[in-house]
Amino acid sequence: GTLEDENDREEFINKLLTLPSRNDWNFPEPLYQYQGFWNFSPYIIGLMLAQKRFQAQPNDIILCSHPKTGPTWLKALAFANVTRSQYDDSTSPLLTKSPHDVVPFIELDAAQGVDNRDLKVPLAATHGPFNSLPTSFRTLGCKIVYICRDPKDAFMSLWHFMTKQIWFPLLSITFEDAFEMFCEGVLVHGPYWEHVLEYWRASLESPEMVLFFKYEDLKTNTSFHVKRLADFMGFAFTPEEEKQGAVDKIIELCSLETLSSLEVNRNGKQRENSMFECRNGLFFRKGKVGDWKSAMTPEMGARLDRIVELKLSGSGLTL
Ligand code: A3P
Repeated sequence: GTLEDENDREEFINKLLTLPSRNDWNFPEPLYQYQGFWNFSPYIIGLMLAQKRFQAQPNDIILCSHPKTGPTWLKALAFANVTRSQYDDSTSPLLTKSPHDVVPFIELDAAQGVDNRDLKVPLAATHGPFNSLPTSFRTLGCKIVYICRDPKDAFMSLWHFMTKQIWFPLLSITFEDAFEMFCEGVLVHGPYWEHVLEYWRASLESPEMVLFFKYEDLKTNTSFHVKRLADFMGFAFTPEEEKQGAVDKIIELCSLETLSSLEVNRNGKQRENSMFECRNGLFFRKGKVGDWKSAMTPEMGARLDRIVELKLSGSGLTL
């Protein structure tokens, strides 16, 4: 890296060391709490770098989420949407690249010293909380799309992801203890409900700026929400396009079935040689609403529901 990189990193590491830290998950390194949310140091450093340097473009649309709530799907849908005049379902880069590789991910790309904007699409993605977004997004009035999900399913999905992640063979926490940590809000990008609430409030305050989605709604009424997404992004489908099946084509291309059967998503990898390295296949599992029941007891489910209900009370949001 450059001298500026080195100086920034040093400054950020010093700052990091003053943050609260915990290691209830028995990870090889602790989680630190930065601007209200827990995470690993490389991610926090990446977020700090992005906050300092990421220069949004005026037309950028930012795809935001907590992990395991559906950003893989959202990225695919948004990309297919904004590029539909350039590519069709036989030429889309989505056929040869993971959805994560067609949309720059601002914190991790910043951490690797690149901005990853080669495909020249007006999209960027982040797991950062609303209040931690680089200021250029807000000064430029960039549009934001947020996706969230039933916290019970998000926890299940996270558990499966973590137990298979290359970096986590050392994960020695039990399922029950991991659940406790989720309930306490101490997890990567947690507390989950705070993450959701920041974006929810922003969407109420500025509906023209923040579009709020639930994974479950996207599953049950895909076509309606894909059109809603396109309208919001400024890429509305024309009646002509609708008649020709453009919406259905995008839904088909971005389906769990189509994407998960592609070679790149079966055997490809991403972020090789970093702690975030993983097989692309890990991002495609069941995609089932209510999958928490496969491993959580009804009592665990009810307990998490109560916690979340309490945290969201008065917000107008239910999950
Ligand atoms: P499950 O683990 O419950 O199956 P993320 O995108 O946040 O990593 O979330 C991954 C979750 O979204 C996983 O949920 C995964 O199966 C599901 N998913 C991934 N791609 C999808 C798609 N194209 N359509 C629907 N769900 C998808």
